[in-house]
Amino acid sequence: MARAESELQIGQKDGGLMKWINDRFPFDKMMKEHVTEYYASKNLNLWYVFGVLSMVVLVIQLLTGIFLTMNYKPSAAEAFASVEYIMRDVKYGYIIRYMHSTGASAFFIVVYLHMFRAMLYGSYRKPRELIWLIGMIIFIVLMAEAFMGYLLPWGQMSYWGAQVIVSLFGAIPGIGEGLVDVIRGDYSISDITLNRFFALHVIALPLALVMLVVVHILALHEVGSNNPDGIEIKKKKDANGVPLDGIAFHPYHTSKDLVAIVVFMAAFFAVVFFAPEMGGYFLEHANFEPANRLKTPEHIAPVWYFTPFYAILRAVPDKLLGVILMGAAVVIPMFLPWLDRSPVKSIRYKGVITKSALGLFVVAFLFLGWLGLQPATDLYTNLARVFTVIYFAFFALMPWYSKIDQTKPVPERVVMKGAEHA
Ligand code: HEM
Repeated sequence: MARAESELQIGQKDGGLMKWINDRFPFDKMMKEHVTEYYASKNLNLWYVFGVLSMVVLVIQLLTGIFLTMNYKPSAAEAFASVEYIMRDVKYGYIIRYMHSTGASAFFIVVYLHMFRAMLYGSYRKPRELIWLIGMIIFIVLMAEAFMGYLLPWGQMSYWGAQVIVSLFGAIPGIGEGLVDVIRGDYSISDITLNRFFALHVIALPLALVMLVVVHILALHEVGSNNPDGIEIKKKKDANGVPLDGIAFHPYHTSKDLVAIVVFMAAFFAVVFFAPEMGGYFLEHANFEPANRLKTPEHIAPVWYFTPFYAILRAVPDKLLGVILMGAAVVIPMFLPWLDRSPVKSIRYKGVITKSALGLFVVAFLFLGWLGLQPATDLYTNLARVFTVIYFAFFALMPWYSKIDQTKPVPERVVMKGAEHA
């Protein structure tokens, strides 16, 4: 494109500040590639807002985290009291802290829904395998980030939760015990552990998360977004090379996303102001007591977002096997791009077997989450075993059932209910 024309398009005068910047940095080019001329399918639905909402929560966590760090003391002697100080004495401290603790749960809610969307529409399939894999790494880093953050208030559940989870690494033959000492930096969870978890929680892992999210989006923009029909819109383009079923990310998708952000923020602040503990699910009651290494809480349970995996751990009598299965449960979705052999991507065109399998998987995951919060009675442990089998069967049997399932024909163009194609 001629230079004069491109300058006219973005309303720049010769010699303007933007021209000066663009001559030195590809600002215009990047905006076009990733925003104004990034074409995403016009039929993206509500499931597609959870990516942007994950970004919003990430920003909330980073900003509130910075302000918390200004008053938090990462030492076993002072941590608990410093959090109380933030809650009672620091101006607006309680809002910042509740935003951060609510943000942790909100992060997992939106990320789980975001992952489920990818499962619904086969967004992990070729050519988006790498987006999915990067997403899975983000998920694992996010779990580590949440786990380490949870130790920082130095309450009873922070301490004993960390004790239980860190000691699990001890089950690894040979290196286990040594590894536990390396993670803790001591022979039990102590001030030293708190310090290293603090360093990882406020610097290393957030940095990794931000970088991974950038790579996630770059990979997405390289191949383009999927859509609820699982159709590759780049296959049908107009004379200008614009996908026939695509519309510019900005202003069309951004305006839709903005509505979702406003609704989300309303719900988020409703929790922050009216139910920040969320009945003990977002902030566990045992954590209002300072850590006491001489008093084990009656019932140790991780925060709700870890409980599906915790229930799998407890379902297995052997410690090592339990740890292996729990780890496997976290990483097995990584293989989805290669386990799914269906000729179609989207659930809309998949058959009854796949639909039932996905439905059962969701039920198993939710039940496991609930069971992980309950005491490990015989009945609950046996139920957890049943749901663990269903959880793994969903993945292990996928190469078989996704192949034999009766699929429906996929239309040529994306489906817009009540609208004609241009
Ligand atoms: C901090 C966490 C994350 C952020 C900020 C994030 C952000 C985004 C955004 C903005 C999009 C484009 C909009 C959309 O399709 O919703 C996207 C797409 C996608 N993300 Fe994530 N994501 C995160 C975590 C994950 C995780 C954990 C996974 C899966 C394991 C994942 C898998 C995907 C896939 C497969 C797509 C392409 C979806 C499609 O085109 O249909 N993401 N992500």
